[in-house]
Amino acid sequence: MTRQPDQPDQSAPFPPPDEPDQYDAMGAEYAEHTASNIVNAHYDRPAVLALAGDVTGRRVLDVGCAAGHLSALLIERGAASVTGIDASAQMVRLAGEHCGDSGRFHHADLAAPLDFLPDASFDLVTASLVLHYLEDWSGPLAELRRVLRPGGALVMSVHHPGEDWHWFERPDYFRTERVTDTWTVAGRPRTVRFYRRPLGAAFNALRDAGFTVDRLEEPMPRPEAREQDPAWFDLLSTAPRFLYFRALRPGPGL
Ligand SMILES: C[S@@+](CC[C@H](N)C(=O)[O-])C[C@H]1O[C@@H](n2cnc3c(N)ncnc32)[C@H](O)[C@@H]1O
Repeated sequence: MTRQPDQPDQSAPFPPPDEPDQYDAMGAEYAEHTASNIVNAHYDRPAVLALAGDVTGRRVLDVGCAAGHLSALLIERGAASVTGIDASAQMVRLAGEHCGDSGRFHHADLAAPLDFLPDASFDLVTASLVLHYLEDWSGPLAELRRVLRPGGALVMSVHHPGEDWHWFERPDYFRTERVTDTWTVAGRPRTVRFYRRPLGAAFNALRDAGFTVDRLEEPMPRPEAREQDPAWFDLLSTAPRFLYFRALRPGPGL
């Protein structure tokens, strides 16, 4: 993935009405690109799984499941059930193809209430690289807390606040604002829009939603990925890229 800075246009609606959903448009090319690339397969997913711990017998909700690569790993590791949700219909279709009958996938927007999911019906929620697409985290985090059983955990990754601020050369670190990036996926430039926010805003949103943050991680890529992509390996080993939270819904024993 090649990143290029772009000046954010705060006045444009999100997503622009004439632009198809950013992940629908990338479709199978995105799925293939992220199946084995260093950033997703050897950095993000291992870090999420490490924070999730033993998932044997757990009921897992995988939010922003994209093409189902993380969902498949959770199934492989013995989760009792994996339910994936994603705002891209195309990604939901690809996740279903990837995981077969082992997972259940729904086309749903995390910015809206998740009424189809009962209270306290999951032991673990994973949200890998999805929350930065939302400006306001209060409703979504309240919903994720609602569907977790007391004592259950939310494990999430987002773009690292320091990295986004540095990359986009924004004058005010403390603002929450939308930014526009260009990734190269399967050799084609792709425009992606998301929100950056300071670390305090991310932590406080979790606290205000009633979570207790018990782990904060800035992981390293898996050592075996060095040969696959030496340039990215060096970058991920020396600069912040993503940030990881484990946040617990207080319950018995907490
Ligand atoms: C970077 S990908 C996530 C990668 C994925 N977790 C994995 O392990 O491969 C971000 C995903 O979040 C989804 N997404 C973005 N905004 C969303 C929203 N409001 N509700 C649900 N999903 C959303 C996108 O459609 C996309 O599939």
